[in-house]
Amino acid sequence: MNNTVVSGIRSTGNLHLGNYFGAVKNFIKMQDDYNSYFFIADWHSLTTHPTPDALHQNVKQVLAEYLACGIDPEKSTIFIQSDVPEILELYTLLNMNAYLGELERTTSFKDKARKNPENVNAGLLTYPVLMAADILIHKAQFVPVGKDQEQNLEMARKFAKRFNRMYKTETFPIPRPFVFDGEDMVKIPGLDGSGKMGKSEGNAICLAEDPKSIQKKVMRAVTDQGPTEMNQEKPQVIKNLFDLMEVVSTPDTVQYFDNLYNKCEIRYGDMKKQLAADIIDFTTPIRERILDISADDAYLGKVAKMGAEKARESAVKTVKEVRELIGFRKFY
Ligand code: TYM
Repeated sequence: MNNTVVSGIRSTGNLHLGNYFGAVKNFIKMQDDYNSYFFIADWHSLTTHPTPDALHQNVKQVLAEYLACGIDPEKSTIFIQSDVPEILELYTLLNMNAYLGELERTTSFKDKARKNPENVNAGLLTYPVLMAADILIHKAQFVPVGKDQEQNLEMARKFAKRFNRMYKTETFPIPRPFVFDGEDMVKIPGLDGSGKMGKSEGNAICLAEDPKSIQKKVMRAVTDQGPTEMNQEKPQVIKNLFDLMEVVSTPDTVQYFDNLYNKCEIRYGDMKKQLAADIIDFTTPIRERILDISADDAYLGKVAKMGAEKARESAVKTVKEVRELIGFRKFY
């Protein structure tokens, strides 16, 4: 199989709707057709200094959540990043050709440095290099990611091309976002009127969240005074609600509220009630599976072990090839 896919989620908290619709959903049905790797980015999560217990708990949670979403460990390789030390070797090698200027210019680095000026660590700066190593170690052609990771993926493409050029090789395929024809990368909005749903933004609805909490969050979502002119363009906060509805509700439901909006007859309270009900319908079966799976330590252990073995097999091969190309040749 030559269509390899790599997808990762940081172990910094429970999976939310943004993670699911941005990076997981599109891929679930395609597991038969691709050689796919799904991993839990626990090294990446260290940039925010989790306690050891929280780190361990979060890795376990994300593993259970991947499985509950329908990632099948018999078809895909599910592994924990820190189980594959070869990724760190490739990261070190790629770091030698990653330049301070380009790393400092990435939007996510600038954002994080602005929000947490007391913790601008080197791991944060080289975050895109580690992400590139995650992708290139399996020679991925496709990466299912949401729109927020577009620039990081662009960096991975740059590092792959740079390596290939420097060593006159085609070792690394140039990875592309995994999107269906004609579709754009997904960006699921938050409920607070801000751009995207995110763990650190505190505006997320998690797959494991209980229905009451979902209901409360949706009913509190930011709205405006309502439209005053027929067919008026929707302001961002309202567009966000419709965008969320698009992913969890039926097209008829979206159409129904869209018509009411266009006729200036919409009542946001009704729309939010419907949206909350549809989110809960969508998350409930996943939440139940998360609870079942996370109670089964033996199964999680089996999956993680199997994943680590399969991921290492591929990673060892790449590192061997890269070492040879760079000039690390054995004397013994
Ligand atoms: P992370 O953990 O922030 O998010 C995991 C995946 O979920 C997507 N996502 C979203 N998609 C649409 N709308 C949203 N609101 C939204 N929020 C999150 C992200 O785009 C991502 O695909 N750096 C990565 C983890 C990573 C990785 C990799 C991903 C490390 N190495 C290699 C792919 C390949 C991250 O922090 O994602």
